Amino acid sequence: MKKILVTGGAGYIGSHTCVELLDSGYEVVIVDDLSNSELEPMKRIKALTGKSLSFHQVNILDKDALNAVFEKEGNIDAVIHFAALKAVGESVEQPLRYYHNNITGSLTLFEVMQDHAVSKIVFSSSATVYGDPETIPLTEKAPIQATNPYGQTKAMMEQILMDTGETYDWDVIILRYFNPVGAHPSGEIGEDPNYPNNLLPFVSQVAVGLREHVTIFGDDYDTPDGTGVRDYIHVVDLAKAHVKSLEKFATTDQETLVYNIGTGVGYSVKEMVETFREVSGKEIKTVTGPRRSGDIATCIADSSLANTDLKWTAEYDLKAMIESAWNWQSKYPNGYKG
Ligand code: NAD
Ligand code: WQD
Repeated sequence: MKKILVTGGAGYIGSHTCVELLDSGYEVVIVDDLSNSELEPMKRIKALTGKSLSFHQVNILDKDALNAVFEKEGNIDAVIHFAALKAVGESVEQPLRYYHNNITGSLTLFEVMQDHAVSKIVFSSSATVYGDPETIPLTEKAPIQATNPYGQTKAMMEQILMDTGETYDWDVIILRYFNPVGAHPSGEIGEDPNYPNNLLPFVSQVAVGLREHVTIFGDDYDTPDGTGVRDYIHVVDLAKAHVKSLEKFATTDQETLVYNIGTGVGYSVKEMVETFREVSGKEIKTVTGPRRSGDIATCIADSSLANTDLKWTAEYDLKAMIESAWNWQSKYPNGYKG
């Protein structure tokens, strides 16, 4: 059985990916410092899959501790690297913290991988590397022009991995996620932010009564209804793209492969709120405010390369994404705290 080390496996996307990995017959080793997550999802992943996993509370910046994990676990076939800080606004306020955690942490991980002859990695990148795109939908060939420190860490990591892949003959798959949303259909695991940075967790918290209203960040964009348009992707579809990436390693000898992971369909802020109202039956008050600094009008993926090359296609539509988000939020209004 193949053993996969998952950094950041206790987090939102990581926890869903661990379920898919265990369901697909992989052995899972999680490394997470729990700086933005909790232990509870570990129990729920085990309950959902009926499988055990190995968890290490370790910061990837701690090389000795990371080395000890690789030594103890032995025979790691590949790494899926989720661990990172991810809030765009916070990265503008605390660039050094973001560069240190995301770049130095990743470099430390790669050095430990190299020391243990582990040479396959799937990396979490983001559509944010494209900045404000000139052409929609975005193919992987679009220029890289990140506009904030968080996005820069992703662009830099991509370059570091491309160089590493070429020089040391690593197999690297870079997945550029568009806007991940939703939760596991069971409602047992989901996104659990203290203060949401993203639209859908905010809408969910308003629907469940934790917050009073959603602020729409600008309704004067050059889009059909004036609000921002994004390519939302169900987190379970995204998780499955990681399993497909591991399968791809068996059939390729290319050092670095890059894929956009989205649906190819864009929805506006107003459409997202309206669909949430329909699904939840809740009122969901909105207030229109000014544009959020750094936001763009439209971001939609061309994921045809992932469709053909990874044999991966997004299966969940918008309604299913929002139903799963609402199922999780209404079952556990305070997330993992109950
Ligand atoms: P998350 O915060 O829920 O998960 C990240 C996990 O990494 C957390 O459990 C956190 O505790 C852990 N972590 C952070 N720094 C660490 C360190 N130094 N050592 C060990 N563990 C550490 O975030 P997520 O939404 O699941 O995102 C996962 C990955 O996907 C990140 O790399 C993120 O940048 C990327 N991404 C996320 C989105 C999104 O909208 N959620 C979009 C594109 C890309
Ligand atoms: C979506 C739309 C907002 C909140 C971010 C990161 C990106 C990636 C995914 C990590 C936009 C509008 C939002 C609110 C609103 N993360 N909005 N009111 O900005 O597309 O992408 O998350 O890699 O890097 O930048 O996602 O969910 O924040 O916003 O009107 O309270 O909703 O203006 O049009 P975004 P988002």
